[in-house]
Amino acid sequence: MIEVLLPAGVSSSEAFDDEAPVVLFEAEAVLMEGRRARRRRQFATVRGCARAALAELGRPPVALLPGRGGAPQWPVGVVGSLTHCDGYRGAVVAEAGAVAALGIDAEPAGPLPRGVLGLITSEAERAELAALAAVDASVPWERVLFSAKEALYKAWYPATGLWLGFRDATVSLSAAGTFTATVCPPAGVPAGGVDPVYGGRWLAGSGLVLTAVVRGAG
Ligand SMILES: CC(C)(COP(=O)(O)OP(=O)(O)OC[C@H]1O[C@@H](n2cnc3c(N)ncnc32)[C@H](O)[C@@H]1OP(=O)(O)O)[C@@H](O)C(=O)NCCC(=O)NCCS
Repeated sequence: MIEVLLPAGVSSSEAFDDEAPVVLFEAEAVLMEGRRARRRRQFATVRGCARAALAELGRPPVALLPGRGGAPQWPVGVVGSLTHCDGYRGAVVAEAGAVAALGIDAEPAGPLPRGVLGLITSEAERAELAALAAVDASVPWERVLFSAKEALYKAWYPATGLWLGFRDATVSLSAAGTFTATVCPPAGVPAGGVDPVYGGRWLAGSGLVLTAVVRGAG
């Protein structure tokens, strides 16, 4: 599914269950010691996906350990992103020379838990969601917006090392499957130091919402 959201040069792999056996590197297995079975399965499957996507780039399998802020530590010269939710695990990777920032997110389709929308959106974003729902009520718009913000964060954080709250960016969705995310750069980012506008794509289907943010290099 996720490949339709990605430009040429970005490799992806996904799984909809944890059936395929995945052999963990020792450091990965150590990390999962004592963790709940569900977390161990999702961790392993998504790493299997990541290694399959890396292989498409001609890269050998490596251990993928969390680094600063929980972001995965990719091999030098690679950018990538991982996501997992019930019924979905996905990984995307690209050569850093071609892609500067990459973030993906998967969510179960459906409304957000009560009270969440107000915490993660501005009034203007909620007005836009209402307008989109009036045009097509079959799309879980609020979930798409939430997912877009998480994909943005996964692209943003590895590139900047900076936290971004849900109200620190504005997302504008289009019914055509694209979105624009505009970051209000937090303190610490020099004015003009980071292009604040990111482009993304979204997809809703098979009970899932998938989003991807990709920023080309150079
Ligand atoms: C980090 C976060 C985005 C993960 O999203 P999630 O829906 O909870 O979980 P997902 O399964 O989709 O993604 C988990 C993967 O994200 C990746 N991840 C975690 N922290 C990350 C970070 N700081 N940067 C990039 N990727 C990160 C990891 O690969 C993780 O998988 P792993 O633990 O198996 O390695 C979320 O937990 C979070 O902290 N959100 C708050 C920040 C935010 O989204 N702000 C919005 C700005 S507009």
